[in-house]
Amino acid sequence: MSKFYITTPLYYVNASPHIGHAYTNIISDCMARYRKLKGENVFFLTGTDEHGEKIREAAQSKGEDVKRFADRVVENFKHLWKKLNTSYDFFIRTTDSFHEDVVKRAIMKLHQKQDVYKAKYEAFYCVPCESFWTESQVKDAGSCPSCKRQVQKIEEENYFFRLSKYENWLKKYIKEHPDSVRPKIRYNEVTGFLENNTLEDLCISRPKKRVSWGIDFPLDDNYVVYVWFDALLNYISAAGYGVNEEKFKSLWPADIHFIGKDILRHHAIFWPIMLHALELEPPTTVFAHGWWKIGEEKMSKSIGNIVNPLELVQKVGVDAVRYFLLREVPVGMDGNYSWTVIINRINGDLANDLGNLVFRVLNMTEKYFERKVEGKTTDKPPPQFQSFVGALDLKERYTKHMDNVEFSSALEGVWVFINVMNKYIEETKPWTLRKENKTDQLRHFIWSLLEGIRIASIYIFPFMPSTALSIARQLGRLIDEKDIFLEAKGACDVCWAPGKPFEIKKESPLFPRIDVD
Ligand code: MSP
Repeated sequence: MSKFYITTPLYYVNASPHIGHAYTNIISDCMARYRKLKGENVFFLTGTDEHGEKIREAAQSKGEDVKRFADRVVENFKHLWKKLNTSYDFFIRTTDSFHEDVVKRAIMKLHQKQDVYKAKYEAFYCVPCESFWTESQVKDAGSCPSCKRQVQKIEEENYFFRLSKYENWLKKYIKEHPDSVRPKIRYNEVTGFLENNTLEDLCISRPKKRVSWGIDFPLDDNYVVYVWFDALLNYISAAGYGVNEEKFKSLWPADIHFIGKDILRHHAIFWPIMLHALELEPPTTVFAHGWWKIGEEKMSKSIGNIVNPLELVQKVGVDAVRYFLLREVPVGMDGNYSWTVIINRINGDLANDLGNLVFRVLNMTEKYFERKVEGKTTDKPPPQFQSFVGALDLKERYTKHMDNVEFSSALEGVWVFINVMNKYIEETKPWTLRKENKTDQLRHFIWSLLEGIRIASIYIFPFMPSTALSIARQLGRLIDEKDIFLEAKGACDVCWAPGKPFEIKKESPLFPRIDVD
């Protein structure tokens, strides 16, 4: 069985999560569930980034001990991931002692290879980004080039990782691996950066007199490890690096790191070089998604325009939130968060198209066949059945889009199929078949719609797991959540060959319409 190792970034615990954070975990969960449906052995990792000055400052502002503060915020993240129905396999915290050990051992190994050295350093430091910038970078931008906030000038001795030594290796590697950074626009951004800049060595320590909250630097008691160097290593420590070699071998390299576009430099430049220096393979793909914005501004706590995902889930339900985020924009592009668009998606795609289809077909099954339908090979389709033909390559298109992280297009394809079914009902007018006593045709009609809905529910599962399971239950096909995987096994083809009977059990409508007022 092939493996699929998928990660989210580790979220800073200085504040509670917002829709932007929720988005990364939802796309990762969608991919994880899809890969599980395909029968792959998925390891889905998420977690929290807990060291550094801004976390300490956040704890201090609340008058709390840093670790206790982090423990509390971590619970908010875990609670949200549960409410959003994300199926992660492991939650790593950078304060976990096994991770701290890996970070220390990695630095020792790099030091033995003479890839770590001590030197005097002068630069501009941005606390919110936990990043150093050169004088010219700050001059060009007038402030922090990333977040536009004030930077501090800093002069100190520090430890450095020889990033520059591996610059040529990285250039060659990226050139030979066009899928190592996706989408294309981000790949071009990385290759452009490498062409126009010379890589400087990376400062990987912080003096304790300035930054006290971090992993002790293994070579020198006066320092802690730079948060980014610490955090990136989570992807290997969670996979068992240095502790459980068998597990590590079975998981590494990661298949996909989902990140936001603002942390591309760290993941596409620092990280592969760190791995290469540690004699490990780089991840197969770093996939950077866009930002959720309100108007023209990125949604962020510091701007103060955040949307609380828990409140949204409470208002419209978890699957509607997941659907909106996954359908509205292709993964990679920026999205505009808007209440009007959410309502249109819920009332249009979910209540009208999908909800009504399921409701109508279940009602007809109840009315015409007393809840139970078994397809027969001798049944003749009504003439309008031809309209289904257009949907026959659904599986191929769906798989291609899902494999390519084109979630929005995959959903679009499923909705074409859903509306083909709606049109089929309109055109066939089943009540006339009933009136004319064409029982064979009516049975074929209902059975094939139930089968179509069953197939659609499997395709919907990665996006809206609860809805998919509810549909499968109502079709009489589900006792346990894992049955969806059995249903998916080789059973997603639109082949219309009579198979198992359906014995329906109606539940309340899937998506009640939202009153716009
Ligand atoms: N701790 C680092 C990541 C370390 S990974 C080894 C970090 N944390 S963060 O909490 O600031 O951001 C986590 C993720 O949330 C990033 O991928 C970031 O892009 C994403 N988002 C934060 N705001 C966002 C939006 N408004 N929209 C979409 N995603 C955004 O960076």
